Amino acid sequence: MPQDNHFSDEERRGVYRAIYERRDVRSHFLPDRVPDDVLHRILDAAHHAPSVGFMQPWDFLVIRDAEIRRSVHRNFECASRRAAEAYRDEQRKLYDSLKLAGILEAPINLCVTCDHARLKGGGLGRQTDPAVALYSTVCAVQNLWLAARAESLGVGWVSILDLEQLKTTLGVPAELTLVAYLCIGYVSEFRPHPDLEEKGWETRSDLASVTHFDRWGVHHSGEQDRK
Ligand SMILES: Cc1cc2nc3c(=O)[nH]c(=O)nc-3n(C[C@H](O)[C@H](O)[C@H](O)COP(=O)(O)O)c2cc1C
Repeated sequence: MPQDNHFSDEERRGVYRAIYERRDVRSHFLPDRVPDDVLHRILDAAHHAPSVGFMQPWDFLVIRDAEIRRSVHRNFECASRRAAEAYRDEQRKLYDSLKLAGILEAPINLCVTCDHARLKGGGLGRQTDPAVALYSTVCAVQNLWLAARAESLGVGWVSILDLEQLKTTLGVPAELTLVAYLCIGYVSEFRPHPDLEEKGWETRSDLASVTHFDRWGVHHSGEQDRK
C-alpha cells in the first residue's frame, strides 16, 4: 500500500494550533500530577527531534523533588535581582512586575543538556560549526514544547539562572552544556498572546520585516512583478 504522505485538514490544523497556541507559561500552573505516560510522550517527542549527524546530543533530567526546586528557585531569585540592575525607571518597574519563572508552582522541572563530545553521529556535520550540537538540542526543546501544548501542558523556559551553580545543584557533569531549564505542568489557562506582549514589554515583529528574498534587505519576493 502506498504510504500516505498527506496530513488530513484536521491533522494539519492540529499542528498549526499547537504552534500558534503554544505559550511560555510562568503563572497559571496547577499542582495536578502529570501522569508518567504523558511525561513519557513529551520526552519521546523531544527525543525525535532532528540532530546533526543524528548525534542526539541531549539528556533530560526530570526534577520533581521539592527541596531541589527550592534551591533552583533561590538561584533564580539571585540571578533575577542581578538582571534587574540593567534596567532603569519605568522599564525597571515593569521588569520588577514580571513573573519570569514557575519553578515552585510547576510540578515538574526539566533540565535539558547538550553533550558536544557525544560519539554518536561520527562527527558528521559538526566540523564546520560546533554549535550545531546546541541547535539540535534546542530542536528537542521545541518538539517537547509543542507536544506539551497538545497534551494541555504548559511549559516555561527559565534562563535567568546562574548556570554553573545550577549544574552543581543538579550534579550535571562539568563538560556538558546546560541548554534549558523548563517548568512543566497543567495550567488554568493558556493566554492568547505572549506574557511580555500583554505586559507591554515587547511586541511581535512584522513577518515581512524579517523576511528577505535572494539578497539581504530585499523584503519583497518580486514574484508579483514576474506575473
Ligand atoms: C531561550 C529562551 C529563554 C527564555 N527565558 C525565559 C525566562 O528566563 N523567563 C521567562 O519568563 N521567559 C523566558 N522565555 C520565554 C520568552 O519570554 C517567550 O518565549 C516570549 O516572550 C514569547 O512568548 P511565547 O513563548 O508565549 O510565544 C525564554 C524563551 C526562550 C526561547
